[in-house]
Amino acid sequence: VTAKETTVTSKIYDLIYSGASPDQVKEDLLPLLDFQEEGIPMQALSRMVTERLTPHLVQYSHPAFHSLYNFFPEKGALLGGGVALRYNQGVTNWQVSPGGVMLEELCLQALCRLFEFPHTSDATFMYCGTYANQQALYLALHRHAEAHGFDLAQKGLKGFSHPERLAVVVSQDAHFSLKHAVRSLGLGEDSLVVIPSDAKFRLDVQHLRLKLPELKKMKDIFCIVTTAGTTSTGTIEPILPLIEISRDIGAWLHVDGAYGFAYSLLPELKILFIGSEQADSVAWDPHKQFGVPIPNSVLFLQRKSDFERMAIYGEYFNRKDDPEPNPGLKSPPSTRPLSALPLVTTLRYLGLNGIRARLRAPLQAIQSLAEELSSASDIQVCNQPQTGILCLRYLSPHLSEKHSDGLQRYLYDRTKTEGIRSISMTRIADKLALRLVAISPTVTFDSLWDTVEYLRKSAQEYKPA
Ligand SMILES: Cc1ncc(COP(=O)(O)O)c(C=O)c1O
Repeated sequence: VTAKETTVTSKIYDLIYSGASPDQVKEDLLPLLDFQEEGIPMQALSRMVTERLTPHLVQYSHPAFHSLYNFFPEKGALLGGGVALRYNQGVTNWQVSPGGVMLEELCLQALCRLFEFPHTSDATFMYCGTYANQQALYLALHRHAEAHGFDLAQKGLKGFSHPERLAVVVSQDAHFSLKHAVRSLGLGEDSLVVIPSDAKFRLDVQHLRLKLPELKKMKDIFCIVTTAGTTSTGTIEPILPLIEISRDIGAWLHVDGAYGFAYSLLPELKILFIGSEQADSVAWDPHKQFGVPIPNSVLFLQRKSDFERMAIYGEYFNRKDDPEPNPGLKSPPSTRPLSALPLVTTLRYLGLNGIRARLRAPLQAIQSLAEELSSASDIQVCNQPQTGILCLRYLSPHLSEKHSDGLQRYLYDRTKTEGIRSISMTRIADKLALRLVAISPTVTFDSLWDTVEYLRKSAQEYKPA
């Protein structure tokens, strides 16, 4: 296989990715999937992967990558990730990896202290934020069943006399993983009570308070979810008032901090997270900002004892009387990666000061951009960024509301096709908006500004259908 046979050339490295179409990518990749009886020499295989696949992978460290939460591994993470990969340790129990399970347990205890959870707390590594949210809701429902006098693990939903009343309160901007969670718990999406957001894109606590008396007549609310860093705008929703409400009604309070919780390490933002240390559970994705290999997610619990709700003991594995640490009892997968190691090596290599500097730089860039654009006549700034996300709408005096949405879609599609910059799109108050995410330290004010100018130029070429 030579470079000439592929659809792309080396200049693609200036791009976010090759810019190839799905058909071109497929054509390049098919020879890799030609499974044969005989193996091929390592050198040829390596060239094949480098030439046929890597051009089509996204350059997350590109300064013009402003769309999603992905990150190339940073140096400390590469060290830990390399060792984890070389030894391919499963981290279920002592027998599988004494060093792995002890490192995981110690790392999680240290993280509980770092994020100021109480001494009763504990945590587990999860495959992703989606599963962390799902497990939090299961634990909430398990505790609710216990209050109703039965064991959810044994009886399931049929233990409830009125399962149709079971409900989870979420905000309008909650991540779609909460839908997955209620689907897989067998509750269905109808069990989500969606509370509208206020003018600042936060779960409207006042609205919830007013609605509660009527809700309580019709529903058994077993969990309230607040999002610390919503996916659309990066807003930190209220935590403390929801802790109060959840305690009043006997519900579990889960904080979905998959994206935002990392920013609680910044002293200047800490105030936004007050109350998270009292939540029943908090989900956090180090694989979003920390530059650690995917998967790397954490679920914190206020009470270590709540993990017992997950435990399934076996005869050959995960025995109840095993005296050693057994992290595999805290979440369903019995084969679990050594996620702790790259996180530990990142934290030790960069130090907390280095981590804070990496978190802070892109936030400052996005805030400066919001300020700079606040007086622009052709761009509407949709949110005042609390974290690293800024949503914009390009405007034209000649466009109706309907065509304004068309303009945002045109800009998004065109940017995606050209492949030299990467942005995302969201919906805010029923209107399409372009979403810029600053997560990597390579994203600066200048690189964001170049994207704004690129979109401005493209907007001039928009012709409504
Ligand atoms: C707020 C929030 N929650 C949950 C998730 C899901 O996390 P994961 O992609 O790790 O499953 C995301 C992902 O972007 C998110 O932004």
